[in-house]
Amino acid sequence: MDKPNNLLETALAHARRLSGVHLYAGKLQAPLSGKTFPVASPATRQQIGTAADGDAQDVAAAVGAAAGAQADWAAMSPRARGKILQKAAAQLTQHTEEIATLLALETGKAIRTESRVEANVLADCFEFYGGLGSELKGETIPFAPNMLVFTQREPIGVVAAILPWNAPLMLMAFKIAPALVAGNTVVVKSAEEAPLSTLFVVDLLNRSLPPGVVNILSGFGPSCGGPLVADRRVGKVTFTGSVDTGKIIAHAAADRLIPTTLELGGKSPMIVMDDADLDRTVAGAVAGMRFTRQGQSCTAASRMLVHRSVREEFVARMADKVNAMRMGDPLDEATDIGTIISTGQFDRVHSYLELGKRIPHVETLQLSKMPEAPELKDGLFVQPTVFVGVSNEDRLAREEIFGPVTCVIPFDDYEQAIAMANDSDYGLAATIWTRNLQRALDATQRLQAGFVQVNQNIVAQPGLSYGGIKQSGLGKEASMEAMLDHFTQKKTILISRD
Ligand code: NAI
Ligand code: MG
Repeated sequence: MDKPNNLLETALAHARRLSGVHLYAGKLQAPLSGKTFPVASPATRQQIGTAADGDAQDVAAAVGAAAGAQADWAAMSPRARGKILQKAAAQLTQHTEEIATLLALETGKAIRTESRVEANVLADCFEFYGGLGSELKGETIPFAPNMLVFTQREPIGVVAAILPWNAPLMLMAFKIAPALVAGNTVVVKSAEEAPLSTLFVVDLLNRSLPPGVVNILSGFGPSCGGPLVADRRVGKVTFTGSVDTGKIIAHAAADRLIPTTLELGGKSPMIVMDDADLDRTVAGAVAGMRFTRQGQSCTAASRMLVHRSVREEFVARMADKVNAMRMGDPLDEATDIGTIISTGQFDRVHSYLELGKRIPHVETLQLSKMPEAPELKDGLFVQPTVFVGVSNEDRLAREEIFGPVTCVIPFDDYEQAIAMANDSDYGLAATIWTRNLQRALDATQRLQAGFVQVNQNIVAQPGLSYGGIKQSGLGKEASMEAMLDHFTQKKTILISRD
């Protein structure tokens, strides 16, 4: 492995090499308008490169490349496609450190706690889906003695994958690996805040995949994502991001009657009962709130419903734990917590901090310590913040903040906790901490969320269906069912035996 300094130089060299281009038809391609936009590190605010500012002309070219490559890709045996994905996974594994360094540079996600972990999940996801080629099965149906009736799963065609910036590599892998193994080709639209690490990964994938099978554009939502969703050769859109944008995409997809998978965030409740093992609960709360990612996670445990009798101790122990975490340079191995992604998100998070401080019944705890290094003085750091004594009715408890800000909401009995947990527009994830088995089982049945955990709080993993209900979205990701249900279409075939 390179020494850290060399790694930084290597990552910066990749950022320069990949500046101002898309990748489609197997090649780096300049945007047809000639326009680019700057990409900067949110920790130092130094520019590290530029990204192509894609528009409808680039979309047309990239979708053309994907459409042109699709028939040959679909004609391969599924296992052969899977083996190519596994070869790509090995390729990604060889470059994990470079990928993680570039991700940390461009997003401010700390290398040890976040970026390296994500780079590993990325490779793991290709490995996982690469093994599922032989699972693209249909059924035989004993419909009538004189007929042979069966179903078969076919690829949809060209898939558009529109990405967010918060876990861009993992979420890209959750979208493109199942789409590809099922025989689709893909055009990715990266998030404007994280274009280079995703482009680097697609560049690496193109070393194993035939040209045109996986393509990536950078650009802004309406001017690049908009034409992509509208292109009549696109047969499916998979999206992660905000509820508002998800609805715009769903409307555009409805006009063309194409399916969508939408992962739209949450306001995930974490219930702490009075009989919970507090050591484990506090560790799980800190991990579940994703303080290491500045809370920029759709499943962040941002509504902590805590039994009044343990609230004080829970808050004190959580504060101790977060105070011991170190904010700093995302590239430093000693750093636990990096930065917010962009000035827009930084301002948005601050508006919620101001809001919380103005609520008279709410106590504000600002934890850890801002970094002192002069080169980080303009970095987009926000101290982890716990608002204690929030009411489930407050905007703080209802709106997705997407920052290192959690609410502690007291309750007096279990029924009240369940009612508050479910009283939300969102339904992505939920957690309960208790040693009472009956209660734990009861909660798993009653919590309205797509991903429910008891006495733990782990992140989405390849192999487990992941996706929300209510305003949190439509459809599942990350599992075999996600591949079958969301990236294939079923054909029913009836053959007369007469
Ligand atoms: P966004 O939903 O606007 O952006 C996500 C992606 O959609 C980006 O690639 C963007 O370019 C694209 N996009 C935007 N408008 C589009 C359009 N009209 N047509 C096609 N594509 C379009 O999210 P944004 O603005 O980055 O963040 C705002 C808030 O959204 C965050 O504060 C957070 O609450 C939520 N969010 C949730 C995420 C999740 O994991 N579910 C991820 C990112 C943001
Ligand atoms: Mg937006």
